[in-house]
Amino acid sequence: MKILVTGGAGFIGSNFIRHILRTYPRYAVLNLDKLTYAGNLENLADLESNPNYQFIKGDVCVSADIESALRGVDAIVHFAAESHVDRSIADARAFVETNVQGTYNLMDSARRNRVGRFLYVSTDEVYGSLAPGDRADEGFPLAPNSPYAASKAASDLLARSFWHTYAFPVIITRASNNYGPYQFPEKLIPLMITLALEGSKLPVYGDGLNERDWIFVEDHCRALSIVLHDGRGGEIYNIGYGQPVSNLTVVRQILRILGRTDEAIEFVTDRPGHDRRYALNAAKIERELGWKPEVGLDAGLIRTVEWYRSHPDWIQEAKSGEYREYYERFYVNRGTSLAEI
Ligand code: NAD
Ligand code: DAU
Repeated sequence: MKILVTGGAGFIGSNFIRHILRTYPRYAVLNLDKLTYAGNLENLADLESNPNYQFIKGDVCVSADIESALRGVDAIVHFAAESHVDRSIADARAFVETNVQGTYNLMDSARRNRVGRFLYVSTDEVYGSLAPGDRADEGFPLAPNSPYAASKAASDLLARSFWHTYAFPVIITRASNNYGPYQFPEKLIPLMITLALEGSKLPVYGDGLNERDWIFVEDHCRALSIVLHDGRGGEIYNIGYGQPVSNLTVVRQILRILGRTDEAIEFVTDRPGHDRRYALNAAKIERELGWKPEVGLDAGLIRTVEWYRSHPDWIQEAKSGEYREYYERFYVNRGTSLAEI
């Protein structure tokens, strides 16, 4: 099988490619990535000499890039996206371009080239903020709140329409918050770990009681692989751990692992429109495809902290270049609000 992975130089995409080539050594993987600030070829440095792995620098918004990549492809796993909610609040243009227009562009070319399977990697954010006790199953109404979530929901619906209208063989997955090695240090867990490692304060938005359903990235990648092989066309599969916890709980746990006290926590101005609670019902993928998460938050956080502790050069590189200014203005000099960046 030849798989085109988009956004494979990012966090989940790079973990997915590694998972696929380890599990299916005969598969060929073509990674098409624009290499934005979030894409880093170092994430796949161990695969550079693998003859079944190939990288092409390309943009999903550019038809010529896609057309040449599609040749001989059996399946597409589409990760490429602008993925950070805070950035979408500051400026959503790139989110509409890549997440909506880019996804349309890719699906349109894939349909015309008769690609046999297309996996759209969506998010639990499309369900919006859930009331206490609620869990979203795949039929739960969509109510995206951030510009990021709205851009993902737009393509989630486009994907649905492609199945309905053209019988285009698309499957949608909606995963909860991922964490683990190679995550860019702007999302909660890697940001808190890297700040704690350098002895800085840890900025927790609002009262810190917003809840997320954290899933270890390797569990997510295993689920995606199962859906890719055995999922039913036109279906949606939620992928989550199933135990929402507060941000404060997560941050305190990171501090404990690193031997620091809660005094490092600094409560800061809340994110505009901050979703209070995400919680998924992932019973369908377990019932139909036999997938279950294996890595609990305690063990997953220990592994993640260890990974960042042993990759100081990777952290340094991530925090250089375009990200430096954003990082210093927003995370170090806390005077700037998101809407002003
Ligand atoms: P990421 O930001 O780490 O990586 C995104 C990758 O896409 C980068 O390598 C970037 O260079 C590439 N990219 C961006 N624009 C592109 C374009 N126009 N053309 C080609 N490549 C482009 O993101 P991630 O956290 O790995 O998320 C991957 C996917 O999973 C996204 O679609 C995201 O919406 C979805 N998702 C993420 C999470 C999470 O918790 N991180 C949870 C659920 C779903
Ligand atoms: O739910 C899945 C989504 O999870 C993915 O689709 C997105 O790509 C991914 O970015 C993530 O979105 P969140 O907004 O939930 O993740 P983030 O890591 O940005 O924030 C997690 C929680 O932590 C959220 O409640 C905001 C809070 N937070 C975040 C940062 C960066 C803080 O309190 N302080 C911070 O500095």
